[in-house]
Amino acid sequence: MTFPLALPAPPHIDPRKAPALRWGILGPGIIAADLVAALLAHTGQEVVAVGSRSRDRARSFAERFGIDRAYGSYEELVADPGVDAIYVATPMSEHYAQTLLCIEAGKPTLVEKSFTRTAAEAREVQRRAVEAGVFVMEAMKTRYLPQMQIIDQLLGDGVLGTIDSVVAQYGVVTPYQPQHRLFDPILGGGVLLDIGVYPLSLAFTLLGEFSSAHASGTLAPSGVEDAVSALLTTSTGSRALINASWRGEAPVRADIGGSLNRVELGESFQNPAPLSLVSPDRRRRLEWDDQRFPGRAGMVFQVAAMARYLEAGLTESPLHSLSDSVAVMALLDELRHQVGSQFDDERQR
Ligand SMILES: NC(=O)c1ccc[n+]([C@@H]2O[C@H](COP(=O)([O-])OP(=O)(O)OC[C@H]3O[C@@H](n4cnc5c(N)ncnc54)[C@H](OP(=O)(O)O)[C@@H]3O)[C@@H](O)[C@H]2O)c1
Repeated sequence: MTFPLALPAPPHIDPRKAPALRWGILGPGIIAADLVAALLAHTGQEVVAVGSRSRDRARSFAERFGIDRAYGSYEELVADPGVDAIYVATPMSEHYAQTLLCIEAGKPTLVEKSFTRTAAEAREVQRRAVEAGVFVMEAMKTRYLPQMQIIDQLLGDGVLGTIDSVVAQYGVVTPYQPQHRLFDPILGGGVLLDIGVYPLSLAFTLLGEFSSAHASGTLAPSGVEDAVSALLTTSTGSRALINASWRGEAPVRADIGGSLNRVELGESFQNPAPLSLVSPDRRRRLEWDDQRFPGRAGMVFQVAAMARYLEAGLTESPLHSLSDSVAVMALLDELRHQVGSQFDDERQR
């Protein structure tokens, strides 16, 4: 395979072309506000209801975005027959119970990352979703972005050859706040579940299962990990180097080294980000960038993908299946335990 003349075009570049669903928002917090703002600005999706633990919070969120129905409990939200799909946007500790609530109500569900708190919870969610035949998908937004669609095609066309290494980072200085969900083990805190999941999911998407993992890291005073670097190796010897930190800045970048060519994913790869394909002699470069849906507005791609999957009658995402979410959660468990970060219920076992 020689170096191509042009990069392939991402097939799903316009989120407005996806079928419109009537969304219910479960947990009207920071990311829920960002997603709703993006859906209203950039898609034909409808947001028709919001559920909060507090009716007042639900009402004020509904007023802010012009949402019809505001419920003071999650149970009322999932029982709304006019809601086609639910977005679960609560802290990690809550995803398990709330996703099961959605499954029991028969509602297709998009669950914020990290999918759950532990792999055991993820396996049970998978089991219950499959048993009930209800669509459930982790909101691993990165997987659905245009730059990943390009990488999928480069891999399919053999342009990269075999992937030898993935080096991916995400570091953002985050001062210690013991009451905040990020640092609270009861709410599923820790840098791995918060941002480490992005480089790790990327590495898993590109390299598949790992046969060994070695992590080094530090803990915040609350006991959750606040910085982790890890080396993961596949059975064929390909490697991923992962770095996630709240203690120091690190570029949200990734380098994907193939046996034929390499890809540089620029900042910030968890959102729409520039991509370069680079030849072995470094002389030929093909560049791609599209900032029509910048930053967190890029979350619309995962919603558009889910709408298309539902229209096609799928019960899982073909790009990031429930088994993939479970596998990534198992890796997160492993790295977290290696650096000495365990949730209370794990310690008691
Ligand atoms: N995709 C992204 O770019 C991105 C970015 C940031 C965060 N996230 C993910 O989004 C999720 C939520 O993050 P966030 O920053 O939006 O969280 P947040 O604002 O702290 O909390 C979201 C909402 O969860 C509800 N909630 C339910 N049980 C709770 C509990 N026990 N403690 C606190 N809140 C509870 C609260 O709403 P009510 O009480 O009103 O129901 C709260 O407003 C996490 O899974 C996170 O990893 C994703």
